[in-house]
Amino acid sequence: MKLQNKKAFIFDLDGVIVDTAKFHYLAWKNLAKKIDIDFTESENEQLKGVSRVKSLEKILQWGNKSVSDNQFEKLMSSKNEEYLSYVDKMTEEDILPGVKSVLDFLKSNNYLIALGSASKNARIILKHTNLTHYFDVIVDGNEVSNAKPDPEVFTKGCDMMDVKHEDAIVFEDSQAGIQAANNANMISVGIGSASILNEADFNFNDFTEIDEQVLNQIIAF
Ligand code: BG6
Ligand code: MG
Repeated sequence: MKLQNKKAFIFDLDGVIVDTAKFHYLAWKNLAKKIDIDFTESENEQLKGVSRVKSLEKILQWGNKSVSDNQFEKLMSSKNEEYLSYVDKMTEEDILPGVKSVLDFLKSNNYLIALGSASKNARIILKHTNLTHYFDVIVDGNEVSNAKPDPEVFTKGCDMMDVKHEDAIVFEDSQAGIQAANNANMISVGIGSASILNEADFNFNDFTEIDEQVLNQIIAF
């Protein structure tokens, strides 16, 4: 058996590994339009990392609207249907730049790798993009009851890998996800705008900025 490194890496999915954040935005935007609600791109930041239920609650709040439970369910499945129509067309080409070389480096150096995503569609996306085999552990929206910034999705993964929380390094593109990692005493790495993700321990625009040397710096942090 190969010797495992004691540090583990936890990847968020949407907006970190694949650019599905734009599909979520599009599908929510169109859904909101149907019920006469509009929201801005900066309000959309608050939907990143947040569960489907919480996202719709926020949108309804912004529009000062309330709906029946039945209508709520219908709106959620209509959004998901549109979202999945985009996901269905995804291939390996939709993996964000630099992600695969980081995964390959971690794998060949025997680091444990987990997925920590709020999405209930995570496994379908990993399948479409041929990435499932990289992950030792997958924790997604079907397995947690507390949404980010609660760290459950990350601590659960860590516990399954038998890694101490402070030995985990989390890649995230959302404010809620960075807070979740920080709340669990993990090392947080923001992928995206440093001014939006200003609570992260490290910031990068994308994975092309993360080479072996940078990874070693993060590991030694
Ligand atoms: C997160 C996304 O990863 O998953 C959110 O950042 C999304 O935008 C959430 O709402 C839940 O995703 P899904 O696929 O279960 O609707
Ligand atoms: Mg994300």
